[in-house]
This record gives sequence, structure tokens and C-alpha cells, in this order.
Amino acid sequence: MVRHPAGLAAEGRQGQVQALTPEQVRALLSAPGRAAVAAAQQLDLSPSGRLRSAEAVRRAYGPELGPLALEQALLRERARAKHPRGDELWWTGPALEQASSYVVARHRARRFDGPVLDLCCSVGGDLLALPAGSTGVDLDEARLLLARANAEVLGVDVSLVRADVTALPLPPGSDVFVDPARRAGGRRVFDPRAYSPPLDVVLAWRGRVRSLGAKVAPGVDHDALPDDVEVELVSLHGDVKEAVLWTGASRRGHARSATLLPAGDVLLDDPVPAVQVRPPGTWLMEPDGAVVRAHLVAQAAHQVGGWLLDETIAYVSADARVPTPYGRWFEVLEVMPFGLKPLRERLRAHDAGPLVVKKRGTAVEPDVLRKQLKLTGSREVTIVLTRVAGRQVAMVVRPDRPDVDRPDVDRP
Ligand SMILES: C[S@@+](CC[C@H](N)C(=O)[O-])C[C@H]1O[C@@H](n2cnc3c(N)ncnc32)[C@H](O)[C@@H]1O
Repeated sequence: MVRHPAGLAAEGRQGQVQALTPEQVRALLSAPGRAAVAAAQQLDLSPSGRLRSAEAVRRAYGPELGPLALEQALLRERARAKHPRGDELWWTGPALEQASSYVVARHRARRFDGPVLDLCCSVGGDLLALPAGSTGVDLDEARLLLARANAEVLGVDVSLVRADVTALPLPPGSDVFVDPARRAGGRRVFDPRAYSPPLDVVLAWRGRVRSLGAKVAPGVDHDALPDDVEVELVSLHGDVKEAVLWTGASRRGHARSATLLPAGDVLLDDPVPAVQVRPPGTWLMEPDGAVVRAHLVAQAAHQVGGWLLDETIAYVSADARVPTPYGRWFEVLEVMPFGLKPLRERLRAHDAGPLVVKKRGTAVEPDVLRKQLKLTGSREVTIVLTRVAGRQVAMVVRPDRPDVDRPDVDRP
């Protein structure tokens, strides 16, 4: 394996980071390796200091261990965003990218009341949040060594097995969780049949176990799933993380649900009266991505006494701002048919400069639009581009909580 000479393979290139061999993991977990990582964590890991730190660890710990230790220190720094103790745990670049966030893993683990078979455990992102006595299985020896070390750091009682899960006899009555690999050759795969293990293989287990939870991409095609599967969409701080398919004892009896973490608000697919389709009122609600992906916009609209602007678009409008965890409110200041000239005029009247563009159901490219509008005003203004009863409209809106920074906002 070719490693960057300064040991900076993990630096800022998501998806390009290197895996580790079992020998490299053993070197890291040895007493000198642990000392090297601890020392590297004390160095300046900022982009400007990194090169000097790389030279320092190389001088102190040699050309093999030094770069490995620095890379581990950099991974640990990034890992704090996923796990409260991420800076004490052991990672590889790809394993960190694939690891579940701790808050999400903890949430999922609550569906199980006893030991679970985690059939793609990697370094333990899920396994170590599951009930004590759980067993992790993975094919990757290096990741299993790291999972063992992570279990020791957290003081968690787990067993680890190296096996191909597609060839594993599943104990009848077991509770199973699986998070298949959704990358091949460093690239994300979108077809569930290309997951490892493939989703159809995973779903075939459900007749043999007591309960099954399977993490899949949030864009999973609901119509392609068997009827006895609950699809739970999970978002964290408004960012959609994943869908989880639940069957057997871990299913709650609903076909679709949306869970909004960290608060843990849950919206279910309870039947609601048909939602009206009407032009915008005083308020516009942008539902949380998990609500949209779980096809629960009608339920969210019903909860706030709102209506849709277009029956195919996930914006909800209402005359009053009913507090809700399921979406974010915007006050509607103006509504106009979409056109460059009238929009420019109105935005100039608002003294618009930086433009936040939110859009659904339109092909308009925000960056192209910003260039065409040539706004030079002093205020940041938010517009919503969408369809109302099939017609393109632009709305000037005011975020109800401008302090909340949402990842789905398309900012200049
Ligand atoms: C997405 S990762 C799991 C991440 C883990 N849930 C976490 O949060 O840290 C998928 C894992 O599946 C393992 N894997 C893929 N195919 C496998 C198979 N057929 N048998 C065993 N493990 C497999 C990979 O080695 C990888 O570690």
C-alpha cells in the first residue's frame, strides 16, 4: 500500500482514505504504537502545523509507525463528531466514514432487549451501543482487531467472530442487526443488490430470526420492500442519516416512521384525512428530511393544520405557526409567479444581497440564478422556488429561527 510520505493519507479527502492491514493494526495496538498515537494527539494537527507534526512523529517513531500514528490522531480528531469518546477509539479512514453516529446507534439499540448478532460490525460503531453480550461478525480482520480494542476502551462485553455473514448459520430465535457495506472499490453503490451482503440476502434472513434491523440508504425504494417491513427514516439535527428496515419482534406495527434525533420525536404513518392543496398562506413549513423520505408529509401537515401547495411537493403551508418538531417554519412575505425580472425587482426592494435559495420541484440552479440576479444589497434574504398548483412561483420568506443552521440550505 502506498501511504502519503508525510502520513497524511486521511487528510480531507473523504472516500479516498486508506484502509489498514492487520499488521498495521497490530503495530498500532502494540505498546510503542499506543505511545506513538498518544504523542501524535498532542501535536499540532491543524492543516498548517500538520507537516511539521508528520516530520516529528516520523523522527520519533520511524517511517512505518510514525505516519500510522499521525493518521490515527487525525482520525480520532474527526471521530469526535460521531462518538463522544471518538478521540479514544481506534479507526481506519473508511471504517470511520461508514460508522454510525453514536446518537443514532444508541437510538436503534433501544429496539432490542437482549444480546444481538451484529452481522457487519466493522470497528463497532453499532455493536458497542447494542445490549451487553452482543456478538459482532465481520470479514475484515483489521476491523475486528480494532473493534476488540474499542470494546476494551469502552469497557463493553462483546464477542467477535471473523466470518462471511452470507455463509453463517443463523441461530433460530436470534435478534439480528446488519449494516451492509454500501461502497465498492471506494465508490458508493446505490443498487441494494450491490450492497455487501446484498439486501435481498439480508431480507431472506427474516423468516429465520426473531427480529431483524437492517440499515440501508435513505433513498430506499419503499415500493420494492416486502409488506412485513417497517421503514424508519432517521435524521440527526435535520440531516437525514439512514433508513432502517425492521421486521419481526423489533417492528412496531407501522409500515413507515420518521425519527428526529437527538430529541427523539417520532412521526408514524397513522391514517389522516386527505390534505388540501391550496395557494400559500402566511406560513410555510419545510418538513424535516426524514419526514419527507418516510412519505409522511401528509401526517406532518395534519399535525399543524396545514395544507400542500402542490400535491407532489413537500412544502406545507398554514395560516398560523403551530410549534412542531417535524419541520421548520418560514414567514411568507411575498408570493409571485417565477420570472427573473419581477424577482430581481422585488429582491432589490428588500435590499437583498446574499441570497439563500430553497427549492423543490423546479430545475432552477441557485448559483446560476444568483449570477443572473446580480444582487448588491446589504441583507441576506431567503427565497423559496417551487410549484403552486403546477405553476412555478417564487416566495420571499423569513426563517422563523434564522439561528438554526440546516445542512439542506443551499447557501451562497
Ligand atoms: C458499513 S460497515 C458497518 C459499519 C458499522 N455498523 C459501524 O457503525 O461501525 C459494513 C461492514 O460489513 C463488512 N462486510 C461486508 N460484507 C461482509 C460479509 N459478506 N461478511 C462479513 N462482513 C461483511 C465490511 O467488512 C464492513 O466492515
